[in-house]
Amino acid sequence: MNLLGKRMGDAPVFIAGSTGSIGFAAAMALAKRGAHVVLLGRNRDKLAARVERLVAEASAAEASVDPKKVETLVVDFADLASVRGAALEALERFARLDALVHRAQLSCMS
Ligand SMILES: NC(=O)c1ccc[n+]([C@@H]2O[C@H](COP(=O)([O-])OP(=O)(O)OC[C@H]3O[C@@H](n4cnc5c(N)ncnc54)[C@H](OP(=O)(O)O)[C@@H]3O)[C@@H](O)[C@H]2O)c1
Repeated sequence: MNLLGKRMGDAPVFIAGSTGSIGFAAAMALAKRGAHVVLLGRNRDKLAARVERLVAEASAAEASVDPKKVETLVVDFADLASVRGAALEALERFARLDALVHRAQLSCMS
C-alpha cells in the first residue's frame, strides 16, 4: 500500500483518535484516496457522527467515499479489557491490517 499515492487498496487502515482533530483529518484524507478506513474511538455515538460527517464532507468536496469502506471499532485505550476485546473483534472482522494511524491522546495528568 502506498500511503503517498493517490489511490489506496482495500486493506483496512486503523485510525486511533479518529474523533479528534488530527485523527479525523487523517481519516478524511485517506478515505478520499479510496482507503478502507476503520475509525477507532471510545464513544460509539461520537464515532457514528464522525462517519456521517466524513461521508457528507467528502461528497460535498466531490470525492465520493464508499460508505462500506468507512467502519468503526469501539476501544478505550485506558481500559486493557476494552483493548483486548477490540483486538479480538478486529481479528474476527478484518482479514488483515496494513496501517495504523495512532493519534489518540492519552494523558497521565488529571
Ligand atoms: N493538534 C495539534 O496541533 C497537535 C500538535 C502536536 C501534537 N499533537 C498531539 O497529537 C495528539 C492528537 O491531537 P488532537 O489535536 O487530534 O487531539 P484531540 O482533538 O483532543 O483528539 C484526541 C483523540 O484521542 C481520543 N482519546 C483520548 N483518550 C482516549 C482513550 N482512552 N481511548 C481512546 N481514544 C482516546 C479522543 O477521543 P474522544 O473524542 O472520545 O475524547 C480523541 O479522538 C495528541 O496527543 C496531541 O497532544 C497535537
